[in-house]
Amino acid sequence: MSRTSLSPSLIATLSGEYYTDPSVFAAEQERVFEAMWFCAVRASELAGPGAFRTVQVGRESVLISRSRDGSVRAFLNICRHRGAKLCTEESGEVKRAFQCPYHAWTYGLDGKLVAAPNLTSMPDIDRVEYGLVNVHVREWLGYVWVCLAQTPPSFEADVIGAVAERLGGAEPIENYGIDDLRVGRRITYDVKANWKLIIENFMECYHCATIHPELTEVLPEFADGFAAQYYVGHGARFGEEVKGFTVDGGEGLDRIPGVAQEQDRRYYAITVRPQVFVNLVPDHVIFHRMYPMAHDRTVVECDWLYLPHVVESGKDVDRSVELFHRVNQQDFDACERTQPAMSSRAYAKGGVLVPSEHHIGEFHTWLQARLGA
Ligand code: FES
Ligand code: FE
Repeated sequence: MSRTSLSPSLIATLSGEYYTDPSVFAAEQERVFEAMWFCAVRASELAGPGAFRTVQVGRESVLISRSRDGSVRAFLNICRHRGAKLCTEESGEVKRAFQCPYHAWTYGLDGKLVAAPNLTSMPDIDRVEYGLVNVHVREWLGYVWVCLAQTPPSFEADVIGAVAERLGGAEPIENYGIDDLRVGRRITYDVKANWKLIIENFMECYHCATIHPELTEVLPEFADGFAAQYYVGHGARFGEEVKGFTVDGGEGLDRIPGVAQEQDRRYYAITVRPQVFVNLVPDHVIFHRMYPMAHDRTVVECDWLYLPHVVESGKDVDRSVELFHRVNQQDFDACERTQPAMSSRAYAKGGVLVPSEHHIGEFHTWLQARLGA
């Protein structure tokens, strides 16, 4: 698969089959989602020992849980006996161990095989060897990131470094103290579109003037359609009349104390490849994680994070959440309108990136290199 050549000022997009061909998606599962660090769950969801969540990472179901010593562990969610899916729930809590619903093999919170019916009749079974398969884990920004690769790429370079590069250092993101913020609201979107349409949409603001009336009210520089999310490393300035990042521009919530003077009244958008988008505003952080489920389906889990006392006090975060919830709906509607057209003859050779979308071309080049295309 190649990209068509256009006149030098225009860049072709990927061709339609990148969004519709299940074999492209299979290659992405293997070479992108199973090979890179993948942001899986908010660590606070795993409240105590035995709390767990299961998530889809590439082709694998991954079980993430808190073990007895308080650390977070991740395993392939597959019983080593005959391969049944171990935890069938999306989240929950076990007391002491995970028990397979098929023949009741039982695994400790550290993944070790601890019991199996009649196991005394096979005393030589290695309980570590037949324990759950470990998955690499890191915690950063209050999230658990997992990597299915045998030897994971550098988290410092690929994740932390990528964010620092976008913001001009690690300090700008550290100022928001994201580890210590609390989830004030979570909304999960089941989007009938390829994950790349969602990323490409997030990376540009050419569409802002057309589909985001509320956002362009708050961030007037988005109204001319030129501001690309990618280029707002400097932060997009709030409109003069705007009091806070809320649906009507009214007062927001308590400002995060670490936010620097130059970050105040500004909005930053960051993409962390392959599946995270973060928005930073003075009083909250909006953290999106994509779970690509099929070539034409992506689940997006979005957290609105506030200072702990804001969440504990039961303060009304509705107007604050509503702004980006609308933006999400507007964006995902656009992606869902685009997905069916990807299989049209009209898009067989792809479309065009206008100058303010050129950086999406870098994403395509990066992806094609990963896929070895
Ligand atoms: Fe799990 Fe048999 S498959 S105990
Ligand atoms: Fe948008």
